[in-house]
Amino acid sequence: MTKPIITVRDLHLFYDDFEALKGIDMDINENEVTAFIGPSGCGKSTTIMCFNRMNDLIEGCRIEGEIKIGGKNIYDPSIDVTRLRTEVGMVFQNPNPFSKSIYDNIAYGPRNHGIKDKSTLDEIVETSLRDASIWDEVKDKLNQNAQSLSGGQQQRICIARSLSVKPKILLMDESTSALDPISTGKIEELVDKLKQEYTIVMVTHNMQQAARISDRVAFFLTGEVVEMDETEVIFNRPKHKKTEEYITGRFG
Ligand SMILES: Nc1ncnc2c1ncn2[C@@H]1O[C@H](COP(=O)(O)OP(=O)(O)O)[C@@H](O)[C@H]1O
Ligand SMILES: [Mg+2]
Repeated sequence: MTKPIITVRDLHLFYDDFEALKGIDMDINENEVTAFIGPSGCGKSTTIMCFNRMNDLIEGCRIEGEIKIGGKNIYDPSIDVTRLRTEVGMVFQNPNPFSKSIYDNIAYGPRNHGIKDKSTLDEIVETSLRDASIWDEVKDKLNQNAQSLSGGQQQRICIARSLSVKPKILLMDESTSALDPISTGKIEELVDKLKQEYTIVMVTHNMQQAARISDRVAFFLTGEVVEMDETEVIFNRPKHKKTEEYITGRFG
């Protein structure tokens, strides 16, 4: 049973006069992995950042159209943006843990939400690290600086940090492109596990990755979604010539 959790209707986004998104329509299903693919500069990051209103921070950025998450228009003036960013977490390309202990990285969000009780925090830290498949590697060194870990471990710390505030949706913008193949494989396994509880939207340049772990794929080209469908359809019988050219490596 698939059910859309994010619906995008006729989304246009302008950076000053430049129209970066030219009327995006899409449904993103709950508890699925949706991959955004397409050449550089076609609007994948711009779209993903709309989902937790990260674009609000960019001067000259203006949007038209509608994005609903869980049935609510997230650009409605009544929306609490801090709360939205809790519900819609984000993991970036380069791992960016704080220069703090592993424990404090994960406890950071919950503490900001007013949780002070030590045993409650301990439990959240452990659960988040377990859910991010890194507990066994760090459980004996929770006081160590998170930046001393390997890149792949740091990225899983960043995922654990997002999970600590119990999001519904996890956005990943090329979150494995700075990692070695083994670390990438671990994150892919993790994503496959997390989709039971979360909805994941990932931007990836890696076609094999999109084919391996996503349920649906949106192919972007110059600010538009050319085609969005089940992963198997996109890779085996795309309806558009441009999609076929891209996935077979003829451009991009
Ligand atoms: N902050 C910004 N100000 C102006 N233009 C931007 C900004 N961010 C992105 N763009 C432009 O918007 C288009 C889409 O960019 P982006 O969403 O980053 O593409 P992708 O993630 O697919 O590589 C590009 O032409 C890019 O140059
Ligand atoms: Mg990008």
